[in-house]
Amino acid sequence: MTQDELKQKAAHAALKYIKDVPVIGVGTGSTVKHFINYLADMKADFDGAVSSSEGTTALLKQAGIPVLDLNNVGTIEVYVDGADEINPNKQLIKGGGAALTREKIIAAASKTFVCIADGTKRVDVLGKFPLPIEVIPMARSYVAREMVKLGGQPVWRENCVTDNGNQIIDVHNLTILEPIKMEQAINNITGVVAVGIFAMRPADICMVSVGEEIITF
Ligand code: 5RP
Repeated sequence: MTQDELKQKAAHAALKYIKDVPVIGVGTGSTVKHFINYLADMKADFDGAVSSSEGTTALLKQAGIPVLDLNNVGTIEVYVDGADEINPNKQLIKGGGAALTREKIIAAASKTFVCIADGTKRVDVLGKFPLPIEVIPMARSYVAREMVKLGGQPVWRENCVTDNGNQIIDVHNLTILEPIKMEQAINNITGVVAVGIFAMRPADICMVSVGEEIITF
């Protein structure tokens, strides 16, 4: 099976969590794209979706799925999204698609966060995937210097402007042994909008496709 077929399989597996759910939180990325394709066939069964990015909004609209404002929805029953890394505690690195801030907001506002991914995303320790941080543009160099103090090697993701008008730095060479502490430390750096560590609010259910199998934990 190709990596994309594995992503599709994981996306399909998540459908069982959206039965009788009026509003679904929808993440961003190639795995979620498959999920949206499945949602298109079920759109009569729910009211609409809260979107985590302009890209996802466009896909949802193309599929004829109403896109709802989080402010009008309140708590979301289920949020489905991918990840760049997943550790055994269901803590994640996200933000490869630069949508981490809105993804974090939806995760925070959701009762159940279902993370879908192919098996390559499973790791013992987070940090091999360069850690995305969304920053206010004028703070980029300052935040980068602070990340060097935390042991990382920051690289500006040039030509990337987030949906919120901000910039992304990707921090290489971090071994994140204590994800919650690291998330808190980075959140405390002035100019950081959001960091791609999802540890304080991890996933609730991870569905990872490995060959023909879906591993759920
Ligand atoms: C976007 C994300 C994505 O969930 C993450 O990058 C995984 O993407 P893909 O499903 O394409 O592998 O965090 O900001």
